[in-house]
Amino acid sequence: MTNWTAKSSIPEPDGSWGPGVNIRSDRPTPARIYDYFLGGKDNFPVDREAAEKVKEAVGAEITSDAARENRLFLRRVVRWLAEAGIDQFIDVGAGLPTQGNVHEIVQQVNPDAHIVYVDNDPIVLAHGRALLADNATTTVITADLRSPGTILDHPDLRTLIDFSRPVAILFIAVFHFVTDEEDPAGLIAAFRKLLAPGSHIALTHAATDDAPSDQVARVEQVYKNATSPFVFRSRQRIEALFAGFDLVEPGIVHPWQWRPGEDDIRTAWQFAGVARKSAQE
Ligand SMILES: C[S@@+](CC[C@H](N)C(=O)[O-])C[C@H]1O[C@@H](n2cnc3c(N)ncnc32)[C@H](O)[C@@H]1O
Repeated sequence: MTNWTAKSSIPEPDGSWGPGVNIRSDRPTPARIYDYFLGGKDNFPVDREAAEKVKEAVGAEITSDAARENRLFLRRVVRWLAEAGIDQFIDVGAGLPTQGNVHEIVQQVNPDAHIVYVDNDPIVLAHGRALLADNATTTVITADLRSPGTILDHPDLRTLIDFSRPVAILFIAVFHFVTDEEDPAGLIAAFRKLLAPGSHIALTHAATDDAPSDQVARVEQVYKNATSPFVFRSRQRIEALFAGFDLVEPGIVHPWQWRPGEDDIRTAWQFAGVARKSAQE
């Protein structure tokens, strides 16, 4: 089995997280809960307590299987995009560094490709800095998906990404942290506007269709105490997030069904899709 354990790192020599960085250790965060599901060490007691409640709600194996299934999809789709010639990637809601980070996969295909990691949890930047210390083609920024301008206009991103050429934007397991009131489809449309034809988005999202409703409710309840709520959506509502893009075959499927690899982790808890922007707006 793949070892997903994160590389643990303390970013500053004095052991602090760096100036102005507010690492919330009083409330669970999605990035650290997910790290725990993947067997990582970059999480605190509040995160482990929340993660254990999610495990109790849905079953211990399902949580880590769903997280690993998601990472395997990411690995396949990123390689597919890089092999198709995409050489600029924005990984929105990147999470803590783990096994098989996007730049490691992409740069196996194209060592000159540019990758920008984005997350609103500052712990990701703190750890990412250590991981990327000697990689001139990759950077990490702290910004929030719910304000697309803070990502798209970020000077560090603009140094690496040229929006006049195709870009891939990864929204992997992040939109279920955006509420309906925050208008997920409107946010994706804001990203789409800036993309050149030939650009792609890849997205995975937790889904209600095959999940028992009492378990869904228990998971949502756990995240009410976290820094972001968790919003399951139906397959139909997930498909609607791709408006304005052309879905790539096989369309919206469970992650393990998208151009399956040799790995054999299958859950019914999420859907995935990849889509292309064909025309200039
Ligand atoms: C479940 S993890 C997924 C990590 C990675 N994309 C993957 O699939 O392996 C979700 C990540 O999205 C980040 N996130 C949640 N809401 C966000 C927002 N509004 N803007 C940016 N990042 C966000 C969390 O901090 C967390 O690192």
